[in-house]
Amino acid sequence: MSYRVGIVGATGAVGQELIELLHRRNFPMSELVLLASSRSAGKTITWQDKTWTVQEAKPEAFDSLDIAIFSAGGSTSTELCPEAAKRDCIAIDNSSAFRMDPKVPLVVPEINPDAARSHQGIIANPNCSTAVALMGLYPLHREFGLKRFFAATYQAVSGSGAAAMQELEDQLRAWGKGEAITYSEYPHQIAFNLIPHVDVFYEDGYTKEEHKMLNESRKILTMPGLKASTTCVRVPVLRAHSIAINAEFEKPVDLQRARQVVGSFEGAELVDTPAENKYPMPLDFSGKEKCGVGRMRIDTAFDNGLSLWVVGDQLWKGAALNAVQIAELLVADKLISPKATV
Ligand code: A2P
Repeated sequence: MSYRVGIVGATGAVGQELIELLHRRNFPMSELVLLASSRSAGKTITWQDKTWTVQEAKPEAFDSLDIAIFSAGGSTSTELCPEAAKRDCIAIDNSSAFRMDPKVPLVVPEINPDAARSHQGIIANPNCSTAVALMGLYPLHREFGLKRFFAATYQAVSGSGAAAMQELEDQLRAWGKGEAITYSEYPHQIAFNLIPHVDVFYEDGYTKEEHKMLNESRKILTMPGLKASTTCVRVPVLRAHSIAINAEFEKPVDLQRARQVVGSFEGAELVDTPAENKYPMPLDFSGKEKCGVGRMRIDTAFDNGLSLWVVGDQLWKGAALNAVQIAELLVADKLISPKATV
């Protein structure tokens, strides 16, 4: 059986990765339709020997599709995911528009695949930092029982889209040529800088990104009482987010066992030989399906605590890969059937 798949936001940073991953993972597709804004309608996109003409994302586009993966921002998802669902096209949404909607499952296939069963036409993909952090935290939670965590993120510019990647490259080039550095994607220069500001600020002083990490972790882990405090920072890295985590657990933590459970978890690769300078880094985990976990050590501030460092390609595990894995789950669990050809 094969499916007609749409990508909404196909010209964007995540959209491009979706084209790659759907093919690379041999997702059973009878057709792939690339959708974006009216600005891109008529443009062509080529991947290996295949070329597609981009179409404008309009509600009628979903009439003939079985699955649509959205990565075109919250307002496009708010408008078009329900249109897709209405047309019996399952929407897998990368934006934050529906993540906390109680009727919409928020799914990380390695953690809560069963949640996908209750979908009503829309399935949400988690925030990129949350997905990456949980690849380290979840196996530890299963073993020791997570109680609370603190985290600081080091988030790559590709998390803000293709234009932000271009801005970092342009700033580095301008610096190399001794020219003035300009910016428009962030409120400050990102080259040679760190910006402790990801998404908008809320009244409590946290940012929306920091709220997402707490609320989405609670939903995915089904732990409404989970406590967490995070600081999200944009760093001048092109691709792959890194997260420093200090976690407290219900049970005493045995370091060797912690390394074992992380090393055998399907979403993680243990890279933890500090004596040989081996730890996960963004350059090594760009374009990798697994997230790297290292720097594991007994935490000196918590009683049953563990410190760890998690790195993952947020365009993949934090976005495109997780979405494709959700689509694969729908197929494997027979939660989707191809529409009859009209
Ligand atoms: P377009 O290239 O036509 O603007 P990124 O995350 O890299 O910034 O990419 C955002 C993606 O979302 C792009 O593919 C962009 O298409 C798409 N997009 C933006 N606005 C809309 C819209 N109103 N309808 C459909 N796609 C949109």
